[in-house]
Amino acid sequence: MKDYGVFMNERQTLKINDNNHLEIGGVDCSLLREQYGTPLYVMDQEYIENMCKIYSKTLTEEYGDGLICYASKAFSCLEIYRIINNMGIGADSVSIGELYTAKKANFPMQKICFHGNNKSLAELEFAIDNGVGYIVIDSYTEANEIDELCAKKGVKQNVLIRINPGVEAHTHHFIQTAKIDSKFGFSIQSGEAEQIVTYVAEKKNIVLKGLHCHIGSQIFESKSFELAVEKMTDFYKFLKDKYAIDFDVLNMGGGFGIFYTDGDAKKSYNEYAEYIKTISKSLLLAVNEKGIKKPYLILEPGRSIVGEAGITLYTAGNVKTIKDIKNYIAIDGGMCDNPRFALYQAKYTVVSADNMRADKNVKYTIAGKCCESGDIIAEDVMLPETKKGDLIAVLSTGAYNFSMSSNYNRNLIPPVVMVKNGQSRYVVKPQTIDDLLRNDV
Ligand code: LLP
Repeated sequence: MKDYGVFMNERQTLKINDNNHLEIGGVDCSLLREQYGTPLYVMDQEYIENMCKIYSKTLTEEYGDGLICYASKAFSCLEIYRIINNMGIGADSVSIGELYTAKKANFPMQKICFHGNNKSLAELEFAIDNGVGYIVIDSYTEANEIDELCAKKGVKQNVLIRINPGVEAHTHHFIQTAKIDSKFGFSIQSGEAEQIVTYVAEKKNIVLKGLHCHIGSQIFESKSFELAVEKMTDFYKFLKDKYAIDFDVLNMGGGFGIFYTDGDAKKSYNEYAEYIKTISKSLLLAVNEKGIKKPYLILEPGRSIVGEAGITLYTAGNVKTIKDIKNYIAIDGGMCDNPRFALYQAKYTVVSADNMRADKNVKYTIAGKCCESGDIIAEDVMLPETKKGDLIAVLSTGAYNFSMSSNYNRNLIPPVVMVKNGQSRYVVKPQTIDDLLRNDV
């Protein structure tokens, strides 16, 4: 068995087997297609478990008290909450849907941070009733609503406040979240952060445990995270000096960049730990220098826990050649199962999963089947000559693919299969065409 350098990423979860086929978690992708059909999301459980393990271990060793909370918007279904719970980590949720899924999976709700820039009353009530660990406040209205709900119920709720530290991270502008004009959080620079902190600190039924920030997603530069730590701890010191507020908790969000194509850094599990080390080290330093209490550190990686664990299998359909211009391979899925090219011009590695060692000498654009010219999965990828019926795999689709899928054009959302040790099982079953009509009147 030979490693496939381009995307192996030192991780050994993807291999080329003796049949010249792509294999994930010990299962031949051609067999997966036979058993489950395409399009198909496939997730490697061991990869996810290893990422949880390395992140938690590094946090404990390098920092001490804290919790990794998997950002479940990246990929949410019952089984993922069970898996991460078995790994002892927490979760970040952003809707009643994610909270409910976690609850149904018997996830310990006190290990959840509940986010959102416009949570409904029903969502807040659900979170409070079910003992969510922290609600992360993102507006005055929300602060008032939580306080009133808690007063009515005679309970107290732990909260954090979402702060915008004003760090411009280098990533697509739709997934940058801490610029000054962001819809998220209260800006330190403008003085809004100070005002909301003093406002919430006065509330009788809310326990303000600390602050949160998240600077964006798919960020590689450790400098951005160091800068965010610096800004947040400067603010902690300011609040301590001016108001004698010394917080117990700091949540630094997620955003760690992963490998999609050769343009991205290739990281081993241990190299992923560097993100946690960087934040831990700079926080420990800052705490000592600034004389603030060492906070319980929460981190919320999503993409980096599940992204590279996943691949999507498609069957090639029509191949269209526009002479001297372009070769299109149309696949049996598209923006309905992966809208990331359409939204962010995201790039992916694409391989010929049943012909892995063949020379890649034809340039193709992989087009989806939706009625929309922007329905592209990847542009200008090199593959062996491909014909209808060939098996195509798109790599690193474990994050923000299934969770962002839709029934556009009344296409069915593909099922999700989890693989481990040569075994496969559904974790999300296939939709049926009757599912599409379920709520139609
Ligand atoms: N914490 C908060 C508060 C967040 O808003 C996010 C992501 C995360 C943690 C996790 O970030 P990660 O480690 O996954 O980068 N749909 C986009 C990504 C949007 C991310 C939104 N927030 C994409 O497909 O690239």
